[in-house]
Amino acid sequence: MTEWDSETAEWYAANYGEYATNRLAVDELDLSVDAIIVDVGCGTGSALRHAAAQVTDGNLIGIDPVPRMVELARGHTVDHPASARIEYRVGSAEALPVNDDLADVVFAFDSIDHWQDIDRGLGEIHRILRHGSHLAIVKDGAVPGAAEARKSLLDRLEAAGFVVVGQCEITSEDVSFTLWTCIGVEP
Ligand SMILES: C[S@@+](CC[C@H](N)C(=O)[O-])C[C@H]1O[C@@H](n2cnc3c(N)ncnc32)[C@H](O)[C@@H]1O
Repeated sequence: MTEWDSETAEWYAANYGEYATNRLAVDELDLSVDAIIVDVGCGTGSALRHAAAQVTDGNLIGIDPVPRMVELARGHTVDHPASARIEYRVGSAEALPVNDDLADVVFAFDSIDHWQDIDRGLGEIHRILRHGSHLAIVKDGAVPGAAEARKSLLDRLEAAGFVVVGQCEITSEDVSFTLWTCIGVEP
């Protein structure tokens, strides 16, 4: 598993900072103009910058545990037209620096496999989601062991109180990934 630190943050930003999954996944989602979006493991913030085109009157919060990644995300966003509505916070999935019942949609794009404790992270997302709101998950199909990881993830989602309400396989622009949308119910 990748060790996330300043060095890997620089490497990720240089090679995958605008990875196509972010734009392609956001284009599949129907985001409200005034939504509050939280992106867990936001990397360089690419997904939030794309989401801001739909969320023209809401707020977008990116969370990543690596301070250097958060700096890079801020740097990529400073000249964006929606920069005043996009903020980044240092934090991990296991202890999200976000109030209860705040988010209308949570993104976890190519992020879950990197968490220290997936069950705790899913519990945290359940806590910050408004009732009936959505978690959108991207899993890159090219990642080794993807089939086993998917089965394990679906079991964990159910245990954490999420119902999968949508699944689509997207292959485009040299990327291939699954996008799941889930609703939080009582665990
Ligand atoms: C493969 S990158 C994906 C970044 C971005 N979501 C994207 O799709 O371009 C994985 C990200 O997960 C972050 N990460 C690592 N451990 C994490 C944790 N415990 N909680 C949340 N994010 C974590 C990394 O710092 C990194 O930015």
